[in-house]
Amino acid sequence: MSDQLTAVPDEISAVNLVDPNTYFEHDMHEFWRRLRTEHPLYWHRPVDDKPGFWVVTRYPDVMALYRDDQRLTSERGNVLVTLLAGGDTASGQMLAVTDGQRHKDLRNVMLRAFSPRALSKVAELVRSNTRELVSQAVRRGEADFAAEVAALIPLSTIANLLGVPERDHSYLHGLSKSALSSDEADQTPEDAWLARNEILLYFNDLVNERRNDPQDDVLTVLTKSSINGEPLSDHDIVFNCYSLILGGDETSRLTMIDAVYTLSRDPGEWRRLKEGSVSLESATEEVLRWATPAMSFGRRALTDIPVAGGVIAEGDVVTLWNGSANLDETAFDRPDVLDLGRSPNKHVTFGYGPHFCLGAFLARVEVKEMLDALRTFTTDFEVTGTPRRIHSNIMTGMSYLPVRFAADEAGLASGGQ
Ligand code: HEM
Repeated sequence: MSDQLTAVPDEISAVNLVDPNTYFEHDMHEFWRRLRTEHPLYWHRPVDDKPGFWVVTRYPDVMALYRDDQRLTSERGNVLVTLLAGGDTASGQMLAVTDGQRHKDLRNVMLRAFSPRALSKVAELVRSNTRELVSQAVRRGEADFAAEVAALIPLSTIANLLGVPERDHSYLHGLSKSALSSDEADQTPEDAWLARNEILLYFNDLVNERRNDPQDDVLTVLTKSSINGEPLSDHDIVFNCYSLILGGDETSRLTMIDAVYTLSRDPGEWRRLKEGSVSLESATEEVLRWATPAMSFGRRALTDIPVAGGVIAEGDVVTLWNGSANLDETAFDRPDVLDLGRSPNKHVTFGYGPHFCLGAFLARVEVKEMLDALRTFTTDFEVTGTPRRIHSNIMTGMSYLPVRFAADEAGLASGGQ
């Protein structure tokens, strides 16, 4: 079942990377290949009242710039939207948009909160939750995999880690969806802004509750943490809870949905997974490379930086395209082929360098458990209608995926034990 993506226009400058419709309507593979070969450092024209920006698409350049926190800053935004708006209101407070020593200190505090004990408890919940949702969907025979399975895992995972009460999970899920991308082309930036503010207010209340009534959760750990003897402020905690929800919900969800879509179209790779001829670990990495849900991140240049034969000037916005780097033929053998046994597979789906994804461990657990549940409970599955793509210039993927499952009776009977 095709979801009817069309080719991008031949004229490279006609492709507008700021417009979410570009990704909604077009297959970008050929465009990225042309940029990598013809314009590895490409200047994107200004659009509407927004400034122009650099587009970096080759794997080695993307890696080098991710690593370079001396000549590039995240403090004036790290995604296209905030970079073009001139900055991020959470700058210097939210991990992803904080640089230097403060970033290191804050990252250490957050990493302490992600202790092996906290993570192993959450990983166990991911496993049981995923197995229950997938086995139920298979027993029903048909499901919108996006809404009825994938949507119910990542947000619950982060919410469990943080200590968000169960009753508030679906409320947060709705807000997270509006804040970052949209299923509806007519959603306005104001809707997203309102959703973001509601998330912040929600966590503000929860932080107050935890200060008065400590629990065994990450939120409580954060309320007790300090940097150089200075306790984290409510603002610091709230912004960073927000960043975990936004960073960890949609990305993982889109990866799982993409995995089912992709495997339904590639019976050979599905058989390799089902029969156990590839490891779950390598399959997980390839599914992550293939989906690359976060299309790009970005920085602002603090000085002139030579890249790929050109120069990024001080003050310019630079965007690093993970989706293109993960398809770079100089870094991956036959990058256009899904190979669940691919090794090595050093994809940049989680970024690289000082801001490397803090949730990569959890995201990997989620994807791995999803693949494991699929291969245990179903013999086969097919997409039965036209999937719906999300509408975003940050994320890529689908928000609706109708699937019919054939049950693996033995797997269901054993409960996957
Ligand atoms: C950072 C991707 C899941 C939390 C990042 C970055 C990428 C990324 C590319 C680097 C951003 C930059 O360099 O500016 C993904 C993908 C995921 C995923 C593709 C799922 C497939 C998660 C999860 C969480 C999370 C589950 C939380 C539990 C974060 C945080 C940062 C981050 C807090 C900022 C780290 C820093 O600035 O030091 N993620 N992420 N992510 N991610 Fe993820």
